[in-house]
Amino acid sequence: MRHCIYPGTFDPITHGHLDVLARATKLFDRVTVAIALDTTKDPLFSADERVEMIQPNVACYKNVRIVTFSGLLVDFARKQKAAAIIRGLRALSDFEFEFNMALMNRHLDEDLETIFVMPNEQFSYTSSSLVKQIAKLGGDMAHFVPPNVASELKKKFAV
Ligand code: COA
Repeated sequence: MRHCIYPGTFDPITHGHLDVLARATKLFDRVTVAIALDTTKDPLFSADERVEMIQPNVACYKNVRIVTFSGLLVDFARKQKAAAIIRGLRALSDFEFEFNMALMNRHLDEDLETIFVMPNEQFSYTSSSLVKQIAKLGGDMAHFVPPNVASELKKKFAV
């Protein structure tokens, strides 16, 4: 069984993340969406809220599950017996950060590969923080996030 981990903060999940996930499900027998609790970010949504927002959007895949994890990604991946980490590369600007992270992870675990896929170009400028900013200022998020996520964002920023 080829198993990969799709890690991220997913605060919140966007159509761009879901595009990467759809590609991962075709490449691997099993995909674990892994919400990292140890990041440098200060998330708007709790880990449970993020799991709940992702759930209905991955229900169509039989080979996807969602978990949260703390500690190092490589340790988590090793425990899960995953063969690879999958990450999306939206644009050249993602490259340096992703390159550093992939090399650091390789240094920590030589056997764990990082595989990059390119999401559809219509999502190349989507990011969770821009979506949150649009939501906060009352803009239309329909192009960037699924309806359940848009509705949770609206609730967060309701006055
Ligand atoms: N579509 C849309 N947006 C995308 C995207 C895509 N396909 N791919 C990335 N993004 C955006 C996200 O929206 C997010 O935007 P933001 O910065 O505005 O919030 C940003 O790119 C990256 O977010 P995400 O994909 O959720 O990943 P991340 O960079 O937050 O994840 C971890 C980093 C969780 C993988 C990393 O911190 C980690 O591994 N943590 C565990 C601890 C550890 O092992 N640390 C050592 C790492 S070497």
